Amino acid sequence: MTMDTRDDVPVIELRHVEKHFGDLHVLRDINLKVSRGEVLVVIGPSGSGKSTMCRTINRLETIDSGEILIEGKPLPAEGRELAAMRAELGMVFQSFNLFAHKTILENVTLGPIDVLGMKREDAEKRAMELLARVGVAEQAAKVPAQLSGGQQQRVAIARSLAMNPKAMMFDEPTSALDPEMINEVLDVMVELARGGMTMVVVTHEMNFARRVADRVVFMADGQIVEEGAPDEFFDHPATQRARDFLDSIKGH
Ligand SMILES: Nc1ncnc2c1ncn2[C@@H]1O[C@H](COP(=O)(O)OP(=O)(O)OP(=O)(O)O)[C@@H](O)[C@H]1O
Ligand SMILES: [Mg+2]
Repeated sequence: MTMDTRDDVPVIELRHVEKHFGDLHVLRDINLKVSRGEVLVVIGPSGSGKSTMCRTINRLETIDSGEILIEGKPLPAEGRELAAMRAELGMVFQSFNLFAHKTILENVTLGPIDVLGMKREDAEKRAMELLARVGVAEQAAKVPAQLSGGQQQRVAIARSLAMNPKAMMFDEPTSALDPEMINEVLDVMVELARGGMTMVVVTHEMNFARRVADRVVFMADGQIVEEGAPDEFFDHPATQRARDFLDSIKGH
């Protein structure tokens, strides 16, 4: 297969995805394609299904119907294939989820050694490069509790990158951080985006969205209500729901 044809296939595609939690219809006919190198920002009110959608993409949540394709291939339901596919999608959450009793270096080398079968020496060399890239190389021997929230979140990003993911998903990666630490994490994400990483980012950071997103998706009540280029969406939202949402966050 040539690079050209590969690049025509979306890295992530959702087709008619439906999901309920009991009576709650949390994802309604979600159709979405994320192209290689694209930065997609997902915004919307609390409870609109943003996190659930992210979690379905690497099957932390099952779906009721529809299809999820990674590079054109259906997401496997379970087993080793699913584990392999999951390793190809990096995920960074609001809470940092680092292993508390392991050093920063070990947090970053564990996956490459255990899952990718890398030699320790190679995994450590690569981990140090990644830790340097996110600006925390000097913290490598510490444990997570000795780092600030912003530093921990940057380690979480390095840990995901160590698995050479096809795409990175971020679910409100800065919303648990003190204000002075938000930008240091956003800066790392901006660099990743500039480097061509395919990214899905759920965030309330509208300046980041405007500056970095190739496309903004607005969700409400489990549906994609609107999507478009950031300037177009923020300056001329087409729906009343999007206008109401943008007004509500302007007040903060
Ligand atoms: N495991 C679960 N069981 C039952 N209901 C759930 C579960 N997870 C989420 N929900 C419900 O599904 C809806 C969508 O939740 P989700 O977390 O996807 O929203 P969100 O858009 O990420 O919101 P927020 O901006 O607050 O993070 C909410 O009503 C939530 O209460
Ligand atoms: Mg959420």
